[in-house]
Amino acid sequence: MQSPLLCVRFSRYGEPRVRRKSAGSLERNGEKRSFLGKTIDVFVRQYYGEDVPPKLRTMQSRHYSIDNTSELRSKQPSLFQQLSARIMACGPITVADYMKEVLTHPTAGYYMNKDVFGEKGDFITSPEITQIFGEMLGVWIINEWSKISRGPFQLVELGPGRGTLSKDILRVFKQLKIIDKVSLHLVEVSPTLSAIQAKNLCTSTEEVNPLTNKNGENSISHYRKGITNDGVKIFWYYSITDVPRDFSIFLAHEFFDALPIHKFQRTSEGWREVLVDIDPVANNQEKFRYVISRMATPSVKAYVSENEPRDHLEVSPQSIVIADHLSSFLYENGGFVLIADYGHDGEKTDTFRAFRQHQLHDPLINPGTADLTADVDFSLFKRIASNDNKLITFGPINQRDFLKQLGIDIRLQMLLRNAPEDQRDQIQSAYHMITDEDQMGKCFKMLSMFPAILKKHFEKWPVSGFQKIDGLKK
Ligand SMILES: C[S@@+](CC[C@H](N)C(=O)[O-])C[C@H]1O[C@@H](n2cnc3c(N)ncnc32)[C@H](O)[C@@H]1O
Repeated sequence: MQSPLLCVRFSRYGEPRVRRKSAGSLERNGEKRSFLGKTIDVFVRQYYGEDVPPKLRTMQSRHYSIDNTSELRSKQPSLFQQLSARIMACGPITVADYMKEVLTHPTAGYYMNKDVFGEKGDFITSPEITQIFGEMLGVWIINEWSKISRGPFQLVELGPGRGTLSKDILRVFKQLKIIDKVSLHLVEVSPTLSAIQAKNLCTSTEEVNPLTNKNGENSISHYRKGITNDGVKIFWYYSITDVPRDFSIFLAHEFFDALPIHKFQRTSEGWREVLVDIDPVANNQEKFRYVISRMATPSVKAYVSENEPRDHLEVSPQSIVIADHLSSFLYENGGFVLIADYGHDGEKTDTFRAFRQHQLHDPLINPGTADLTADVDFSLFKRIASNDNKLITFGPINQRDFLKQLGIDIRLQMLLRNAPEDQRDQIQSAYHMITDEDQMGKCFKMLSMFPAILKKHFEKWPVSGFQKIDGLKK
């Protein structure tokens, strides 16, 4: 039976989710084991002591009050007015331009001036549903890092939201005594969300003016720095290209789906781009409409291949640039990446959608008031990774299968054993939310990439979580 404390929320995929009311015990049992060659459940058991009762993670404890009414914003025309003026002056805009402005316009962009997550926001994500998710990823990172290095590393999170995932991972690092090896690097475009991350993660922070001196030496590429109460240094960047070149472990959870996409449509006259135009019959609503470009735009020529079998296509050029950067970065500096998102392997067509207050919403109505998102094309990452034989890829694999192989069921049993009676339903609901196939277990997928030089190494010590899943209890 579902607990009365649970309420249905929407993920950005569109499946109903249960609001998180879960947590876990944080003690390790002190057992010391060699990392190499051990199965990952050694880490899970090592991390999760069995004595400490789980604490509840409530939505309230993660809500921050943000000033959303600055003078600057109130004097600005609405995003709809700004985009309308632009379209009137220059003609219809691409969906990529529209998405970029709606999500990251400096003053009116969806992500730029409010906390968009959780009960009072528009959607909820796995790390916000239950801390078990971040803890499993923390265990996976240690397991994979310890197979290839014992040295210091940069943990780089792209689009960290409230900073919840990084916080849960750092707690695992502390428990497993590798906290002194890590520095945290957050790539975040939103000043409001980066302030929330700082509040969530740091005991002290400092704004930094990213500048370069005349000779281009001593350049500062971060815009904020801070420190956690365990002494972990944290740096914030606007772009992944600003992250210092060093051995790094990258995480991108629900990041790539927020990057702008172009939309293309096959017509009787060939491929055309889908554009956003003023709607002449909007009935006083702040609403745009789709139109098809009269000619093939430059993007059609750049991104649609001649033998494309689909009739409709979405392409994210920014994802291509970041994937390319990641490829060179890992090849040259070492490390690995885990991408977790809803997505497909190059077969889906029209996935562009919006979410507002946990409901599906028309992406062209009231721009800036709803989240815009499109499924991630994992085949693109695999293609780019294999260029020049730089990286090898694992996955995409369903989130359910990945988490089960990491030992989430052991973790669940430990939690349930120690949890007070009245919290068991909540813990179990959160677990089902992130693992069940009809919730987030199947539509969310994991893709990991490592330098190709490790190929032989992985034949002996395969990457955890991506094994053949035949026989895994569904
Ligand atoms: C859907 S949220 C995911 C947040 C978090 N990873 C989670 O799963 O809870 C997307 C995040 O990416 C950030 N973001 C969106 N576009 C970005 C860009 N172009 N560069 C850097 N961060 C971006 C947003 O501000 C937000 O923090």
